[in-house]
Amino acid sequence: MQPKIFAFANQKGGVGKTTLAVHMAIHAHSMGYRVLFVDLDQQGSATFLLTGDGDRHQTEEGTVLDLWYPDRKIPVQTSPVFGFDFLQASAALDVVDDEMDTAILALRRLENLDSGQGNYHLVVIDCPPAPNVRQIAPLMVADLHVIPVTPDALGTQGLVSLVQTNLHQIRPANPKLQLKVLINRLKANSPKNHAVAKELVEHFPDWILPQQLFEREDVRTGLRRGLPYWEVCRDTAQQDAWYQAFDGLLAGVPDDDDDPDLREIPEPEDAEEILAQQEQAEGGVS
Ligand SMILES: Nc1ncnc2c1ncn2[C@@H]1O[C@H](COP(=O)(O)OP(=O)(O)O)[C@@H](O)[C@H]1O
Ligand SMILES: [Mg+2]
Repeated sequence: MQPKIFAFANQKGGVGKTTLAVHMAIHAHSMGYRVLFVDLDQQGSATFLLTGDGDRHQTEEGTVLDLWYPDRKIPVQTSPVFGFDFLQASAALDVVDDEMDTAILALRRLENLDSGQGNYHLVVIDCPPAPNVRQIAPLMVADLHVIPVTPDALGTQGLVSLVQTNLHQIRPANPKLQLKVLINRLKANSPKNHAVAKELVEHFPDWILPQQLFEREDVRTGLRRGLPYWEVCRDTAQQDAWYQAFDGLLAGVPDDDDDPDLREIPEPEDAEEILAQQEQAEGGVS
């Protein structure tokens, strides 16, 4: 089975694309999914988080750029910090920004990439903060476009056009593409931020995730220690919000090659009931 591809994309920088994409990969990996993280941002901030090496992207060899060369092996590495696989960024990535079709072909190579134990379940792509080929091509191959947005005037500017792009330019070519907007870096003590967040929910009811992620120092310190926010935070409401947001995004990803319906696991209370029913039924048969 082919992996589900999630692209974290918004032309605005600083909204949390990298932070949330890394959290997505951490969560899926911790749940036993085979995860490949793809860093398409020439600044390499995800590559830095995944390796602890701030200069790692200052090379062209052995990077995600190799996807653009069909005769080159895809240089998968494993993050020593988080344990999942990744393709690292290159500072030279902007050389591929002229050719849309080539970029789509390059990214399609991810669809059949073997992890060593079968195909990946989930590919997480961290896109650069510009509406260029490296933002659009991932959306052409993705199953889900996650748009992180900060609830302020600057953050929400462009959201409407980004949603329009998704719906009217990408979807005709890639009808499977879903869309989720995730509010991030909400300042808990800013009434303005809360007001904008409320407006966003009213404006995009179909796409916005119910969880709102706050601006918290623990997010940064956690990732620097190789831990997701929910493992380091001291606020149980936010801990739940973060965990549930990523769990919700993951819910559509099959975690077993043989049984795509496996993820449709009922809530725990129902599960017990269903298991009891199954046991009874099985008992009846034998
Ligand atoms: N919820 C959050 N709370 C605190 N800091 C955050 C949060 N989300 C992101 N950040 C920080 O904001 C900065 C920009 O985030 P980043 O994920 O790099 O955004 P992008 O990839 O969209 O440019 C980084 O320093 C990151 O650590
Ligand atoms: Mg980034």
